[in-house]
Amino acid sequence: MTNPYVEAYRHSIADPESFWGEMAKACHWYRKWDKVLDSSKPPFYRWFTGGMVNTCYNALDLHVESGRGDKLALIYDSPVSDTIRRYTYRELRDQVALFAGVLAAQGVGKGDRVIIYMPMIPEAAIAMLACARIGAIHSVVFGGFAANELATRINDAKPKVIVSASCGIEVKRVIAYKPLLDQAIELAQSKPQHCIIVQRSMALASMVSGRDLDWSDEMAKAEPHACVPVLATDPLYILYTSGTTGQPKGVVRDNGGHMVALKWSMKAIYDIDEDDVWWAASDVGWVVGHSYIVYAPLFKGCTTILYEGKPVGTPDAGAFWRVISQHKVSTMFTAPTAYRAIKRDDPEGKLVKDYDLSSFRILFLAGERSDPDTIQWSERHLKVPVIDHWWQTETGWAIAANCMGLHAYPVKYGSPTKAVPGWNLQVMDEEGNPAPAGRIGALVVELPLPPGTLPTLWNNDQRFLDSYMRDYPGYYKTADAGIIDELGYVYVMARTDDIINVAGHRLSTGAMEEVLSDHPDVAECAVLGVADDLKGQVPVGFLVLNAGVTRDVREIIREVVDMVRERIGPVAAFKKATIVKRLPKTRSGKILRSTIQKIADNQDFKVPATIDDPSILPEIEIALVTMGYAKARN
Ligand code: COA
Ligand code: AMP
Repeated sequence: MTNPYVEAYRHSIADPESFWGEMAKACHWYRKWDKVLDSSKPPFYRWFTGGMVNTCYNALDLHVESGRGDKLALIYDSPVSDTIRRYTYRELRDQVALFAGVLAAQGVGKGDRVIIYMPMIPEAAIAMLACARIGAIHSVVFGGFAANELATRINDAKPKVIVSASCGIEVKRVIAYKPLLDQAIELAQSKPQHCIIVQRSMALASMVSGRDLDWSDEMAKAEPHACVPVLATDPLYILYTSGTTGQPKGVVRDNGGHMVALKWSMKAIYDIDEDDVWWAASDVGWVVGHSYIVYAPLFKGCTTILYEGKPVGTPDAGAFWRVISQHKVSTMFTAPTAYRAIKRDDPEGKLVKDYDLSSFRILFLAGERSDPDTIQWSERHLKVPVIDHWWQTETGWAIAANCMGLHAYPVKYGSPTKAVPGWNLQVMDEEGNPAPAGRIGALVVELPLPPGTLPTLWNNDQRFLDSYMRDYPGYYKTADAGIIDELGYVYVMARTDDIINVAGHRLSTGAMEEVLSDHPDVAECAVLGVADDLKGQVPVGFLVLNAGVTRDVREIIREVVDMVRERIGPVAAFKKATIVKRLPKTRSGKILRSTIQKIADNQDFKVPATIDDPSILPEIEIALVTMGYAKARN
């Protein structure tokens, strides 16, 4: 049966050039593209080649110039600092133009990189948009990462300037950012010329003379900077995400395709119009924050909320309902873990009743699998559709969703519904052949990927090819396994690599293992993500100690936990490890992670035929039971 979704999907796959060429008309172009899709160097496809644009112009100036300058663009709601600040499109444009002037005065221009290491304050969005305004490439680093992770990103991106703040606030704890930044710069080989620091009154930062500049002082003397036209294919940003090693991948996003796809998605997927208030409760350090706190809602011209708080504890499990009712939010987007946290603190949903949620229409969830319990709890208490959708840092927007602005399909729990227009999603079996409907396999996307997706990895075309393009020639490998049923509903089951998802944050167990291996007493180790009621998954370490180590094992465990926090950051939530005599391995020496995983998650498992010594499994099981994971079997 046909409907607007079916029609859009068919059009986007049958003739992507005419589909996206049509959608691109909603954006402002200084110069129209020569080609909608340049397929001359597969798999390096490029969208809108020859076109000239400015992302910041499309996000801000366009609305001001079309007479909507007094419309609210951004509401900063910060229960942790007891602040609400509102910016109209004109006010935001003026602040961004001034900060663009600050950057330009420091010699930042087209193609230069700027790292942004900031808490959830409006200056983070202003800095991103200011980079876009002058054609500089931003790279936002999540505040929960440690100095070492920041240093790795500084070395790769080689920023001319770093923009940061004196501190962030985690519920009631003030976290000083500046010492972490100073330490990262100390560790990095590549040094920025300047750091521009927002001084927050809760913890003033000490400044390095000659290098560090105060945001307010620089803004006070800055001249506003105009938008600089860039090529549609020029990079807008680099966002580092976990790969299978300690070296993160620098996902590149371009200007033109990103703008076209994101603007289109606001109506097609989220059913958002210009007069709506939209809220993505995430962090600017993640892709959700880039796409749906900052860029897409501003392209659309609606109002976006930037929330510096948590689902619980700021001050209670009614925090989300307070924001929705106070700002008349029509649609919100967050990770399921946030709703699990609320459900845990207020299982009966009593606090919902204290607020007027009449403006609220739809809840979108992504970042990890949405468990049916959480969806049903939210449906029951909020009385709005709850829509799971699936995407990745690499893709920048949803691969599968219930496209609420095109056609709302019945929700099937456990499924993010169907492939979004633009995404020719398929399932491949182990031999690389298409799997029949209903059979699990690798989720892959036939090339070309739609606009707005990664054209490559920063300075690393080879890793782009190796990570995404090599295993299934002609297709993008999502590294998720799943099913597409006979009705086209997609089910995303698990990652096929060693990435885990902790409270909606993507982390590499390989990176954690690299840290653990550096402990002098550790001979061998494995880190696995085990199921957790609140965070979805949490990492657990298994350590084999060097022969002859007689120290108190509790002390060793404390040390490795501290090392991961110190080297990767608190966001890794690495809190549990255990000592075992040996790790279960195949005869060829591969650690049997999936077997350990199944024991931890209480799933049935067969002892693999290739195991070198099955007698090790009971020890692993006892260790997991002791830590509160696996249930003892008879
Ligand atoms: N700066 C500094 N530290 C940070 C930080 C930041 N921006 N963000 C998180 N941290 C710290 C936390 O304080 C915590 O430290 P702790 O170990 O000392 O307690 C640690 O990193 C883990 O943080 P978090 O994952 O947020 O767990 P939590 O237990 O504090 O809170 C939730 C749990 C569910 C409330 C929280 O994860 C949440 O709100 N998630 C929303 C989902 C989300 O934003 N996902 C992003 C993708 S859409
Ligand atoms: P990130 O790059 O941080 O956005 O993480 C992307 C990964 O999170 C995906 O590859 C999936 O493994 C997982 N993920 C995101 N959204 C969903 C979802 N709706 N259902 C299942 N897994 C998801």
